[in-house]
Amino acid sequence: MKKIGVLVSGGGTNLQAILDARTNGTIKSGAVACVISSSSKAYALERAKNAGVPAECISGKDYPDVASYDEALLAMLQKYEIDVIVLAGFLKILGEKVIHAYQNKIINVHPSLIPSFCGDGYYGLKVHEAALAYGVKVTGATVHFVNEVTDGGAIILQKAVNILPEDTAETLQKRVMKEAEHIILPQATELVCADKVEICGRTVQIKQ
Ligand code: GRF
Repeated sequence: MKKIGVLVSGGGTNLQAILDARTNGTIKSGAVACVISSSSKAYALERAKNAGVPAECISGKDYPDVASYDEALLAMLQKYEIDVIVLAGFLKILGEKVIHAYQNKIINVHPSLIPSFCGDGYYGLKVHEAALAYGVKVTGATVHFVNEVTDGGAIILQKAVNILPEDTAETLQKRVMKEAEHIILPQATELVCADKVEICGRTVQIKQ
């Protein structure tokens, strides 16, 4: 059984999807051992407490740079003996110590079909605003491994969502979460915990 550490900064609906997936059996090969937030105000911390999961806060305000934040984060992950890290709306940049210590063990959910609308500056509503401004008819979500490049690691799962004529960035964000993120993030978490993914260059193969 793998120990999962979920890193959050906000509302935590993706965290909730992972916690629910553990209860409904979608996630069998891992259990959430701790939730770490970069903000003390994140509602995700309440969700963790309600589920009886240890909730920690490492606030960005207390660390002057990426390197010192990274060290504090690594120490916390080691304290809980975390095997697999899930970034679920985590708004801090990971430093190289954590990335190296957890190579191919960190996954992130991004609310677009990468390589569209991703990379530096594309987070939250901005992603959906950009998709609407470009006029694409289909968007979606991607779960990928995390490396040094923002949203640049190998893709594990993607799910498409149609854009409707009446969509605003807000309605699109909600639908992408419900119809894509909350489904593929627990699925990908299980695949990684069960050692069912094989990385070949940029291509991830799912073992049966
Ligand atoms: C999600 O849209 C996720 O894709 C992005 O940040 C948002 C987090 O939402 N990285 P929540 O905190 O899981 O509700």
